[in-house]
Amino acid sequence: MIISFRSYAFFSLIWFMMISHAYSKDDQKTYIIYMGGHPKGIDPTSLPSLHTAMAQKILGSNFKSEAILHSYKKSFNGFVMKLTEEEAERMAEMEDVVSVFPNKKNLLHTTRSWDFIGFPQQVKRTNIESDIIVGVLDSGIWPESQSFSDKGFGLPPNKWKGSCHNFTCDRKIIGAKYYNVEGSYDKDDIRSARDSNGHGSHVSSTIAGNVVESASLFGYASGSGRARGGLPSARIAVYKICWSSTGCSDADILAAFDDAIHDGVDFISISVGASDPFPFGYFEDAINIGSFHAMKRGILTSNSANNMGPDFSSMTNYSPWLLSVAAATIDRKFLTKVQLGNGITLEGVSINTFDLKNKMFPLIYGGDAPNTAAGYNRSLSRYCYKNSLNKHLVKGKIVLCESILLPTVIELLSGAVGMIHGAISPKDLPNTYAVPSTFLTLRNFKLVYSYLVSMRNNATATIFKSEEVRDSIAPYVASFSSRGPNPITPNILKPDLAAPGVNILAAWSPISPISEVKSDKRLVHYNIISGTSMACPHATAAAAYIKSFHSNWSPAMIKSALMTTAIPMSATLNPEAEFAYGAGLINPIKAANPGLVYDIDEADYVKFLCQEGIETEKLRILTKDHSSCKKVGKTESVYDLNLPSIALYTNVSSYFTRIFHRTVTNVGSATSTYKVKVMCPSLLEIQVKPDTLLFESKGQKKSFSVIIEGSISVAIASGSLIWDDGTFQVRSPIVVFTQSPVPPFIFL
Ligand SMILES: *[C@@H]1O[C@H](CO)[C@@H](O)[C@H](O)[C@H]1NC(C)=O
Ligand SMILES: *[C@@H]1O[C@H](CO)[C@@H](O)[C@H](O)[C@H]1NC(C)=O
Ligand SMILES: *[C@@H]1O[C@H](CO)[C@@H](O)[C@H](O)[C@H]1NC(C)=O
Ligand SMILES: *[C@@H]1O[C@H](CO)[C@@H](O)[C@H](O)[C@H]1NC(C)=O
Repeated sequence: MIISFRSYAFFSLIWFMMISHAYSKDDQKTYIIYMGGHPKGIDPTSLPSLHTAMAQKILGSNFKSEAILHSYKKSFNGFVMKLTEEEAERMAEMEDVVSVFPNKKNLLHTTRSWDFIGFPQQVKRTNIESDIIVGVLDSGIWPESQSFSDKGFGLPPNKWKGSCHNFTCDRKIIGAKYYNVEGSYDKDDIRSARDSNGHGSHVSSTIAGNVVESASLFGYASGSGRARGGLPSARIAVYKICWSSTGCSDADILAAFDDAIHDGVDFISISVGASDPFPFGYFEDAINIGSFHAMKRGILTSNSANNMGPDFSSMTNYSPWLLSVAAATIDRKFLTKVQLGNGITLEGVSINTFDLKNKMFPLIYGGDAPNTAAGYNRSLSRYCYKNSLNKHLVKGKIVLCESILLPTVIELLSGAVGMIHGAISPKDLPNTYAVPSTFLTLRNFKLVYSYLVSMRNNATATIFKSEEVRDSIAPYVASFSSRGPNPITPNILKPDLAAPGVNILAAWSPISPISEVKSDKRLVHYNIISGTSMACPHATAAAAYIKSFHSNWSPAMIKSALMTTAIPMSATLNPEAEFAYGAGLINPIKAANPGLVYDIDEADYVKFLCQEGIETEKLRILTKDHSSCKKVGKTESVYDLNLPSIALYTNVSSYFTRIFHRTVTNVGSATSTYKVKVMCPSLLEIQVKPDTLLFESKGQKKSFSVIIEGSISVAIASGSLIWDDGTFQVRSPIVVFTQSPVPPFIFL
């Protein structure tokens, strides 16, 4: 499973059942042994024998060569093997090991959206666009989709070293590999980069899909008449890491990073993340590790924030070298009305393409139809859990279910005509189901329930086809989008920014039904789905657009350009403010010309890691040089990491003074004078020294400090700092907060 909302929702319902499965200490599990950067002077092809030697040391005479499932050797060092917990602990003690962590399963987390954010098809473009290669780590791709036709494309850029395994590449899709380190496939899995799910094709076409006229989902989302990626001439390299049986495992993700970095991609887009918001260290997670090594080679990784919002600290992808993307709405939304036998009509959300032709059907409450034969009682069947409903009782009826339901569950409402469901939950979550369905607010849900009870066994209802309407208050961050603060380093703002992620039309796999339910016969080439998964590729494309003008910019410069030019969003619509939207909504055209940028290099991140408590010994393995935390000094580097944002966690009503140091690089006019403008929240004082920056040349750097003083009693106080030279406005969000992140986590 991948992060579109549906997969996540499925998981959230059953995850507690899954984790309750306890492991005994002697059970072997798959672990990743992470050993940092490449050892200098060692031939990478000799690493597997080093890994074998280490495994032999731990397992002794029990060692068999097939115990090592995979060796990482192209872009960093490490391997995958099955170990007991005790063996894993011993492995972690070995020399040259940074971390040992279980191979966790991650989840998968156009078009109108580009026009909505002011990025029209006729935007100014460079020839370099066709030299940009975006590595997409996802469920694969449907190569025959019109979105991926290579008509008119030249040869791939010379630097490309990638290849295609069991897949015919062309000039648009120039790389296609698949990874399944544990070798667990099920019958729906295709052993190539071909996409049997749809998610990967959707993401790839949002980034780099060709312009396809008259794409729509059964006429929905046909507003602009076409689907298009942000960078139609860019190349796509596909790395399939998600499988229907196993989800997207850390071991496979790392294997893909290992190759993608070596193959020569310019960007990595990964709409995947951990399945529960329990925080892990920066080097105990495949995406954090992989993106660290990508950053070292000048590759920016764009990653979905996750779909576990709106709770605070619900993000899973939060390392400072990642671009963490929240999902914003666009001005398109789908309403699906229900009408009850008493004439009342209520409005819900879903994407319902079925037409019941206004016919009324009997309405039954899930709690009144338990599948007792299978051991279910009414307190379970009210949620319409898998198998929990009695087929005979729901046949020919519309079922009223509590809580969010998933397409896969709906399939098992066998015989039911449709479903009405609701919970204390968002109104901005449109889903597609295998039967006519709509999702109501709790208030409306209760109205239907009281009507049903009042009618005894004689309640009726119908569900209408969805209406596509304009959402005049967009953009705002969808409630499902995961929120900050960063659970392990609260003084680093996360997410970084927001991009369109709701009701996105893009390419689909025509063998995957639109609801992803097998019995659903609706097969299409373009589908509308939502999730931070859909926001991430918008940000990837915007980042790649910047690179098409500035080929030598570092990942941090590109990220800075996106953040400082983002359109500020509204704390009235999203009370979690910066923790919902970061710097705001991406604005790619402006981002290509930001004036000033905040750059960060590997040495700066090393300082940051020292501040976070990494031991010198581990640091050396990671960087493969003589770095030492003593040498870099434990100054206030968390506050001084040169990010284009400022976050400060403080206690309620306690007075503080905190200095942040920043350096900007001039990428605008050669000579310019920038003056500072500060938007300061009440009760705080913010000083910027100096308050004017004079530049005499391009590339010139200037440093300044920001002193924030005062005390706050609210959860979040938002402000901003803007450098303005009359042409460029370079904006950084400032957020001071008392909202406690989840308890601190011990690094490594
Ligand atoms: C190659 O891919 C096809 C489908 O695209 C699949 O059916 C076949 O099993 C794959 N072959 C191997 C050797 O994995
Ligand atoms: C319903 O079944 C669940 C699980 O078997 C059980 O825990 C619960 O007590 C039952 N509830 C009732 C009202 O019987
Ligand atoms: C059920 O409703 C129908 C029409 O809505 C009505 O004709 C019938 O009398 C009702 N039956 C009962 C038992 O209320
Ligand atoms: C908040 O107060 C606690 C207890 O006095 C203290 O340990 C902690 O360091 C303070 N945190 C901050 C961010 O000032």
